[in-house]
Amino acid sequence: MEQGKGSLLQLAAKPLPERTLRLSGISPRTMKEHYKLYEGYVKKVNEVRSKMTGVDRNAANPTYSEYRALKRGETFALNAVKLHELYFAQLGGKGGIPTGRIAELLQRDFGSFENWLAEFKAAGKSARGWAILAYDQNYGHLFNFITDSQHDGNVLQASLILPMDVYEHSYFIDYGTERAKYIDAFFDNLDWSVVNRRIHESAPRRPILQLFSR
Ligand SMILES: [Fe+2]
Repeated sequence: MEQGKGSLLQLAAKPLPERTLRLSGISPRTMKEHYKLYEGYVKKVNEVRSKMTGVDRNAANPTYSEYRALKRGETFALNAVKLHELYFAQLGGKGGIPTGRIAELLQRDFGSFENWLAEFKAAGKSARGWAILAYDQNYGHLFNFITDSQHDGNVLQASLILPMDVYEHSYFIDYGTERAKYIDAFFDNLDWSVVNRRIHESAPRRPILQLFSR
């Protein structure tokens, strides 16, 4: 469990879901190695936050300073923790075509599931880090975006609905450079019920967040 340490929250790694070791087309070895990276990110968040208590704030500087290095490292590692927890939790399903609220919103915002899927796969082939289906809380719609690094390129006030890791560690053991085959395998194992739960939590039928108060 997470424990507060002063004002800086310390994280605990969540266990890798058992079902992710029984995927079709993504090997247990890939998942175990991938999980080790996740554990490393959790440790780094905690390490940075421990060091924040002793850092020289007076030396903070935007070119280089220990304070800056810690803050940049913290967001890289923290985003990595969040993205990987979502990633692991959504694998182990049967793939296929979604139903329910996510299906409704993909149809509404992309015209059809097939059109969204084609766009998302292109995003997955374009990204150097992650392809992400997100729900924009300000404009109240789903959209895809890509990140080349875990702490650059993320969109503010956009809830992560379906993040797909496309860093090479996600697929190189199983597919070498053939990323498209990994992307197909990713979808073969996707649990749409997890995605639907996220959309229910992130996109309730209520007024959207206002960017400017009236
Ligand atoms: Fe990863």
